[in-house]
Amino acid sequence: MMKTTSVHGMWSSRLMFVMAATGSAVGLGNIWRFPYITSENGGGAFVLVYLACIALIGLPVLFAEIVIGRRGRMSPINSLKELATSAGASTAWSGIGWMGIIAGFLVLSFYSVVAGWTLSYGFDYLQQLAFGAPAITDPGAHFGALLADPARLIFWHAVFMILTMGVVALGVEEGLERAVSILMPMLFVLLLILLGYGMSTGHFQEAVGFLFSPDWSRVDGSMIVTAMGQAFFTLSLGMCAIMTYGAYLPSHVNVPATGVTVALADTAVALVAGLAIFPIVLSFGLDPEGGGAGFIFTALPLAFNSMPFGIAYGMAFFLLLSVAAWTSSISLLEPPTAYFVESTDMSRKTIALLVAAATWLMGLASVFSLNIWSQVTIGGRDIMGAIEFLAADIMLPVGGLLIALFAGWVLSTSITREELDEKMPSWAFQLWLWLTRVVAPLAILLVLGGILGLF
Ligand code: PHE
Repeated sequence: MMKTTSVHGMWSSRLMFVMAATGSAVGLGNIWRFPYITSENGGGAFVLVYLACIALIGLPVLFAEIVIGRRGRMSPINSLKELATSAGASTAWSGIGWMGIIAGFLVLSFYSVVAGWTLSYGFDYLQQLAFGAPAITDPGAHFGALLADPARLIFWHAVFMILTMGVVALGVEEGLERAVSILMPMLFVLLLILLGYGMSTGHFQEAVGFLFSPDWSRVDGSMIVTAMGQAFFTLSLGMCAIMTYGAYLPSHVNVPATGVTVALADTAVALVAGLAIFPIVLSFGLDPEGGGAGFIFTALPLAFNSMPFGIAYGMAFFLLLSVAAWTSSISLLEPPTAYFVESTDMSRKTIALLVAAATWLMGLASVFSLNIWSQVTIGGRDIMGAIEFLAADIMLPVGGLLIALFAGWVLSTSITREELDEKMPSWAFQLWLWLTRVVAPLAILLVLGGILGLF
């Protein structure tokens, strides 16, 4: 039996799904995380491994999530449970949904803290613009002062979480569709302007070389794990966020074309961000391999100081980046909210409030790891780094592995074929099927097995 609508609402058109899924995909992962981990991993080789992961693992899993979500039309846990039951498989598969909720909870806990940094920077520039507050002349010190101030971090983390909760509480159609369709294109335009500035610095060629000419000696197990984790993180995969959005996708929409559009848009934003940021880093004599979570926060203000209208531009940039983070965090909060709406008597608003409050509390661990707990390490990482690693680099790929196995082996090919696109040429369907059944799961297993030291 095929359901055509979900109780949580539906996207009003294909375009709205593309906007929402792109809104989920494009976020801090592209503009904050991609540049900084590319930097830490030495550039070119990392970028190429990342692109390969997007194509060979990310895309098939992206299709798989949309297919499962749309077929089930419920929150991931219940969709998986129902689809498993009707396929005669164990309901334990719904554990993928539970793991996704936990991964999403961990991701959102630190994501909201970083989004708080961008809000704080947007506000700093606003104050410069409106009240002539002093410019950020020493970005390193400015960033350091922010991290050293738990109260400020907690405040902006709370503001961001309230914004996220607000949209999810209202339901996705009202606020989100409209906000995403106006603000995301604006962010892209600002990135292109920044790219133009980067090109004018005289260091563009050098940046292109850093980003695309591979030094294969840099490739090792931990770099590949990071690249794969980033592919999952940036496409919002492995924790059932896209599955949840797929549940609200009208039945007539063609999944492959839609999925490819989202992946291309997401990849384009990451690459443009890299091409905009690395010339700036180089032109101010910073170390392109300096990395660290503060990478863009310490590099970009230098450019804004020397650009025409740099203050207004800096404000717009950080505020729009906050919006990009917002449209991503909504998709992190929606899956647990949808599940509890289905399985309890509580209202959507109450649930959104409770889940957001719990995530906010968890985020305090990341906040304190930047200051009062900065000495505490877990496996050589500070607390925030450890949460980021566990959630993004381990849990998302494990989730993606299970999702691929479920879509490839548990769902019948008549179901997946029907959901993907009946008119799809047979070779294309077979390609997806075997990437999903074998290539993606094996690749994920090999990479994760490698990092766990199994071989
Ligand atoms: N894709 C988002 C980004 O790149 C982060 C995210 C991860 C959102 C997982 C939802 C689920 O910023």
